[in-house]
Amino acid sequence: MNKKLLTWLLAAGIAVVFVATGLQAGTEVPDTIKMDYNNYTKRVKAPPKFKFIEFTHKKHNEEFKISCGDCHHDKDKKPLDLKIGDNVQKCVECHTKLEKDKKDKNDPLVLENAMHGNCVDCHKDVNKKAGDPKGMKGPAPASCNKCHEKGE
Ligand code: HEC
Ligand code: HEC
Ligand code: HEC
Ligand code: HEC
Repeated sequence: MNKKLLTWLLAAGIAVVFVATGLQAGTEVPDTIKMDYNNYTKRVKAPPKFKFIEFTHKKHNEEFKISCGDCHHDKDKKPLDLKIGDNVQKCVECHTKLEKDKKDKNDPLVLENAMHGNCVDCHKDVNKKAGDPKGMKGPAPASCNKCHEKGE
């Protein structure tokens, strides 16, 4: 085999491996997700004082009957109609700001606000429907320490 062809084949092989593993990261639907955003510059709700949140991804979809598009959306905030196996972007790929902006506390592009906006708002609605007018008490965790549990 000539050298040029061999080099080309090697490069193509490497490219295939890269594409395959690249897709793997975004298509596998995890059962639970450890919400461990190490990218945060200064973490407050992290070990050793707080546990990382174990988000029951599969259970939210299957048992609590929440559709993919209630959480995953595109760049225009349009809900995504996903199937298992679709390539899905992480929230942090668009919600790239890792620190709260003092001038705009509710900036949705701050990851923390996106997380709270998604998780906490729905949980409050769930609790309101379950009978607590403020939505803080009920089946879904809505107060800080219910989600950010103390301990390692
Ligand atoms: C209650 C909210 C919620 C529901 C419902 C939900 N997801 Fe997710 N999903 C998330 C969150 C949050 C993450 C973590 C993203 C991150 O780390 O930035 C995630 C991660 C993923 C990932 C991994 C992305 C990666 O790059 O690691 C895939 C794939 C995925 N979801 C697909 C789905 C599919 C398909 C459905 C419906 C069958 C679904 N999700 C339902 C909130 C949800
Ligand atoms: C493709 C980019 C993209 C991805 C991926 C993405 N978002 Fe967003 N998200 C946006 C944009 C853009 C907005 C609107 C910002 C604005 O209104 O200025 C937004 C807004 C939001 C809002 C505020 C909604 C409102 O009505 O004010 C929440 C909450 C949110 N996203 C949560 C999430 C969560 C949770 C994930 C991951 C499961 C996620 N987003 C993934 C781009 C994205
Ligand atoms: C659209 C609604 C909705 C969204 C969005 C949502 N949840 Fe939930 N969550 C629920 C419901 C419903 C329950 C279950 C209440 C019950 O037990 O009846 C629940 C329960 C939980 C629980 C306790 C029970 C368990 O098995 O895990 C945790 C922890 C939790 N959610 C974390 C999260 C996190 C973290 C996010 C954001 C990434 C999130 N949730 C987003 C609806 C939602
Ligand atoms: C429904 C669950 C839930 C509730 C309730 C909740 N959070 Fe969070 N919070 C999250 C998730 C998910 C993230 C993003 C992943 C992470 O960093 O753990 C986050 C991130 C954060 C962060 C940024 C990351 C860090 O470690 O510094 C802070 C600060 C924070 N939350 C504070 C609070 C405070 C204060 C409250 C009460 C007012 C609260 N949270 C209520 C789920 C919740």
